[in-house]
Amino acid sequence: QNDSGFTFVLFGGTGDLAMRKILPALFEAHKGGMLADAGKIVGIARDSYDRAGYLAWVEQHVRAHVAAADFDESVWQSFLNRFEYAALDLSRRDDFVLLRDMLKELPAAVRVFYLATGPSLFVPTCRALASVGLNAGARIVLEKPLGYDLASSNAINDAVGEIFAEEQIYRIDHYLGKESVQNLLALRFGNVLFEPLWRREWVESIQITIAEELGVEARGDFYNQTGALRDMVQNHLLQLLSIVAMEPPHAIESDSVRDEKLRVLRSLKPVQRSEISKVAVRGQYHAGVIRGNPVPGYASEHGVPKDSTTETFVALKVEIENWRWAGVPFFLRTGKRLADRVAEIVVNFRQVPHSALGGLPAGQNRLVIRLQPNESIRLYCQAKQPGEGWNLAQVHLDLAFDQFFKEHRMEAYQRLLLDVINGRLALFVRRDEQEAAWRWVEPILDEWAASPLKGPKPYAAGTWGPAAASAMLAQHGTCWLEEE
Ligand code: BG6
Repeated sequence: QNDSGFTFVLFGGTGDLAMRKILPALFEAHKGGMLADAGKIVGIARDSYDRAGYLAWVEQHVRAHVAAADFDESVWQSFLNRFEYAALDLSRRDDFVLLRDMLKELPAAVRVFYLATGPSLFVPTCRALASVGLNAGARIVLEKPLGYDLASSNAINDAVGEIFAEEQIYRIDHYLGKESVQNLLALRFGNVLFEPLWRREWVESIQITIAEELGVEARGDFYNQTGALRDMVQNHLLQLLSIVAMEPPHAIESDSVRDEKLRVLRSLKPVQRSEISKVAVRGQYHAGVIRGNPVPGYASEHGVPKDSTTETFVALKVEIENWRWAGVPFFLRTGKRLADRVAEIVVNFRQVPHSALGGLPAGQNRLVIRLQPNESIRLYCQAKQPGEGWNLAQVHLDLAFDQFFKEHRMEAYQRLLLDVINGRLALFVRRDEQEAAWRWVEPILDEWAASPLKGPKPYAAGTWGPAAASAMLAQHGTCWLEEE
């Protein structure tokens, strides 16, 4: 906590993200006493509210996104006292002069500009801030998607990089703020048990799944230009992969962790366009049933053209070309309207080299790290079935985090916003990481765009995606966890 205060300037102050994530997270931090008393929040939008009008908007839209159990009227009122509002038109320098004048009256020790806007506004906003000198010493937060491909993300990073130094830039990937993702670091580097086995000699394959039950909701238009590869793989899944596969960092501080993640991203085996159909499966949901309720297909969603070839599901086989992981397939998978909402990592260990017990064991050792919901770790082992003979059975050891830790868990956005205010960069994506991730996905994007007729394979909503995703694993003698 910085006692001299901060000013948190929120562009896109009446947008969806502000309403659902950013302002509720700031409220939680405020309620938990984690924000300096002198800290101020400046909402910015194009609409010509005044402060009272903006507070009415916050009251109407943000309050509903604060968990009822966390709500407290007097705390809420003291939260609202932190707010200022500025209406601002990006094309008018005078508006930025007024913003600068307003900010002169507010705490200046830490100044954050949070761009919760579309990426097309990132560069004009940064330039406008620089035109009145507001870039000096400030921190800038950029939301995903940061660009559409390598070239557009480079163009944004180049232009922003002329105005802000890399240490001033906080690129958000909200998965990095999840408690469970941090726990992954604790599991790997706080124990001696796993690390010696965490390599090709003992690991047969690894699966990383982020499955959603939700469809595209009201975002059909945006999503249709994005697709699952850009929306989930380029960022969240490749970030998870890099944390699972990285070498132990020297310390959990910004550049040690990010250097190690970068090494993984740079070691990903490049995908040749000619082999993409063997290592990448794209799917699109059709009408189906989710938890007993019929849901429409993707092409019938609002804002989506009937003949869309955008993928709502991706499964990939990824290889890492280094000594630790050579030859170990990493299977990544994400999709909308799948059978369950679950994010998990499955480490499949090899069979025992020799069975002294006669016959092969009933299964393999396997570690299942569930990130959400209900964070848990499950270790599958073999045990002897009671009775005569040597019949082995698969059993498991379970660790459910909520049984051990009763504390309130911090939402990802809360942690990340506090990190921005406190100047901690470790959980934000560095430019070179982002570039490496785009570079890796780009041949797949290009190949898919070039062959729309081979388009996404259909799957019914409420299932685990197209059969081709299972066939890809079958070729490696394995299957997705739920198919066991
Ligand atoms: C976002 C994607 O980055 O992550 C969304 O744009 C997706 O499409 C969301 O639904 C998933 O996040 P979480 O935290 O709900 O798993």
